[in-house]
This record gives sequence, C-alpha cells and structure tokens, in this order.
Amino acid sequence: MSALADKVIAACREIAGFSEEPGRTTRTFLSPPMREVHRVLGGWMQLAGMRTWIDAAGNLRGIRTGYGPRLAIGSHLDTVPNAGPFDGILGVVLGIALAELTGGVPIEVIGFSDEEGVRFGVPFIGSRAVVGTLDEATLGRGIGDAIRAYGLDPAEIPAARIECSAYLEFHIEQGPVLDDLGLPLGIVEGIVGQSRATLTFQGQANHAGTTPLRLRRDALAAAAEWISRVECLGLSDAQLRATVGSIHCEPNAGNVIPGMVRVSLDVRHASDDRRHRAVRALVDEANEIGARRGVAVQVEHGLDQPATPMDAALTARLARAVAAAGYTSHVMMSGAGHDAMILAPMIASAMLFLRSPGGLSHHPDESVRPEDVDAALETGLRFIRNV
Ligand code: GLV
Ligand code: MN
Ligand code: MN
Repeated sequence: MSALADKVIAACREIAGFSEEPGRTTRTFLSPPMREVHRVLGGWMQLAGMRTWIDAAGNLRGIRTGYGPRLAIGSHLDTVPNAGPFDGILGVVLGIALAELTGGVPIEVIGFSDEEGVRFGVPFIGSRAVVGTLDEATLGRGIGDAIRAYGLDPAEIPAARIECSAYLEFHIEQGPVLDDLGLPLGIVEGIVGQSRATLTFQGQANHAGTTPLRLRRDALAAAAEWISRVECLGLSDAQLRATVGSIHCEPNAGNVIPGMVRVSLDVRHASDDRRHRAVRALVDEANEIGARRGVAVQVEHGLDQPATPMDAALTARLARAVAAAGYTSHVMMSGAGHDAMILAPMIASAMLFLRSPGGLSHHPDESVRPEDVDAALETGLRFIRNV
C-alpha cells in the first residue's frame, strides 16, 4: 500500500468520528459535526493549492484555477444513521489527494452537503444546488431554515452554480459484485432510477384485551400485510429493488391496537417505466388491503429520480485510464443513488467504483481495501492527465 492510500483511509476514518451521536457515525445535512468536516478537509484543500469556501447550500468547495478546462471531482459529506466510514467521504478525500498529486492542474473538489436525504427526507440537496435544480418549494421544507441556522444565506444559492468541463466521482460500490468477481474497480455506465414515497395507514387505536380481532381496524396489521406484498413484488423481478426501511407506529404500546402507521417506500429499477409500474401496483395493493380492513391509506409521493446514463465519451476515457494503470475493471450499473446522477444531465459525468469487501455498506463495518485505493489513485492520475 502506498503512503497516500494509507493517508486517504486514515482521513476517512478520522472524519467518521465527526458525528451527531456518540460511538457511531451519523452526520446529516448541516448538522454541527459538518463544521469539523469542513475545517479538516478545507485545510487539506488549501494545502493542495485550492481556494476554499462553503457555498450557500453547505457544499465544501475547493478550486484551483489554471490553464485549460477544469475537471470537478466530488461526492457527499453526509451519512446515513450509524454509517460506515467510506460512503461519500472517500470520493471527496480521493479528489483532494489527486489534486495534491497534480499541482498546477485546474481542478475543483466538491464535498456535497447532502446526498442521503436523511435530515429532511430530500436527497441530493447539495448537488441539486450546484446545477440550479433546488427549487423554492423544496427549500421551504425546513431546508432554508437549516441553511440560515448554519450561518449561510439561501438567497445566495444561485451563486453556487458549478463551472467545470466534466465531473468525476469515486465511490465504494456498496454491493457485492466487484468483490464476487475479484476485481478492484468498476466503471459505472449508469445509475438506476429511484422512487420514494410515504404511506400512512390510518386505523383505530383501541384496547388490545377487549377488542376481538375481526372487529379491529389495526393499522400495523394492514401495513405488515402490505410490506410482505412489497417484498413479493421485489422478488418477482431480479432487476427491481423494493424496500420499506422505516416504520413509525402510534401509539406504539404493547397493549394498544395500533391506530396509525407511517412507512417509507423506496423502489429502484434501471427502467423508469418498470419502476413507475411497480409503484402504481404497490399503491393499488395498499388501497386494496386498506379497503378490506377498514384502514384509510394515504400516499405521499416523494423523489422520482430517472435512471441516468453516465457520459459515454468520458466513461470510455475512464476505462482507458483504468487499463493504462494496469487494472481490470467491470462495467456495471449502480443501484445506489449518487451525486453524479444529478450532475450528469448538465455536465459530462463519469463514476469509478471501488470494491466493497463483503458487499457491505450503510453499516459501520463498511470498508475499502488499501490496494484498491491505490488502484483508484493511479487511475485518477491518468484520467486527469488525459482530460
Ligand atoms: C444512497 O445511498 C442511496 O440511497 O442510494
Ligand atoms: Mn449512502
Ligand atoms: Mn454515497
């Protein structure tokens, strides 16, 4: 392992300590520990010759001007609850390490303030701001207030627009494919689309001891039946991902029939048509279950992010850089969402995956192999020299 790969991994592990919760890594959009991330990574950016600032959407920006087109390299600084140390942050740290290695080359490294959408249920706040698609209605969902509370001014978001000729994102794969193939790197050809929704099952809370089952309007029993349908539908198509990841039950007491249950829905597929059809089918199933059980069902649709191809020419250039660095890679779709899918419609974008040992991510044991970090650095160096 090179000393630089060692430094990259150590930096990611250090940043994992900047958390909202003791003993585990949870760092949401503009939460207090984000200031520490900005301080540490901003300092390293300055050492690499970049001018740094925090834009009005809370993104950490580092720019080094110079002659020629400017490549941007980035990923996100926020995490899911109880996260691993590499999701997002590795892409930012690799960007800074590469900027350090390529002194004089014009470059921007960007650490996006939010990709996971944990704090406000709205993902991609940072990347949407830099391409001008973060609208007033979205800001109104508490995001504008959080920006002000952090000491920034949401009115200045238009000035956060990114100016670059191309965007490159390094990210751990977050799945088992590369590990299974025994390969260090993956070339991302596209990112699957995703739909998010919230379903509320409204029944009737009542006494658990006195109310016969056939006379109940149990919101949790209705939601549970629906959740098993979600899994069934997911199993019916190998390309489909359908997940209920969050559940809120009221009053959530052992001797009370649940009166209200709110659940999340996350559906992904490479085909937008197939994804939309899956969401419609699941909403129909929820309504059918609710009608049969006397439980009212309300559906609030959230994110509807289309599947996004990466730029073919830039991706071919990335593949050549991998080969020139002496590595074999695998071309694949990404099932996880990434900031690149927000930038790609406006800016030529490419993504390089690093193998996830054990396929584990969104978990504290998430890791990366030092030799794969070296492979990414060597690929990145060749890519930058050829852009
Ligand atoms: C981001 O991690 C996602 O949900 O794909
Ligand atoms: Mn993630
Ligand atoms: Mn990520």
